[in-house]
Amino acid sequence: MQSIKHVFMVFVMVAVCMVWLLPAHTDEFTEEDLKRWEQEFMAVVDEGEKLFHSSKLGGNTVSCDQCHPNATNTHPETYPKFQKQIGKVVMLFEMINWCIENPLEGKTLDADDPKMIALQAYVTYERRGVKLEPGKH
Ligand code: HEC
Repeated sequence: MQSIKHVFMVFVMVAVCMVWLLPAHTDEFTEEDLKRWEQEFMAVVDEGEKLFHSSKLGGNTVSCDQCHPNATNTHPETYPKFQKQIGKVVMLFEMINWCIENPLEGKTLDADDPKMIALQAYVTYERRGVKLEPGKH
């Protein structure tokens, strides 16, 4: 009896290990998927870069790059954080809207506006590899 239990326990342990060790590939993506998604992502980053250099985004021909060349001092890795201009903890897009409304004298964009997504993709991509530090000043 004891040995049947033993065999059963070993069987269960082996089964559990097999499930754990199943190759992570089960629901992985193909090379084609990865390539296509990368292309889609980079197209949005490129769009963001164009907008960042565009004098048409706001209402006064000023562009983001005049104050943030190459997305410097945009610090996407520090969001969400308290921003004194807005007086509360905000997300990156809200601070971008602050710059669109104030220095650029333009109309704010919705969070899911493709232009806002592109701007965020660009500034975040420029800071890739930088460690996340939400809340940091
Ligand atoms: C006339 C100069 C000027 C222009 C043009 C400008 N900004 Fe800013 N930007 C600022 C200033 C000033 C701040 C506030 C810095 C602070 O207190 O963090 C700021 C802050 C930011 C921040 C937050 C930085 C941080 O450290 O948290 C982001 C993101 C940002 N700007 C993006 C943009 C984008 C995108 C555009 C174009 C739509 C833009 N800015 C245009 C001057 C500018």
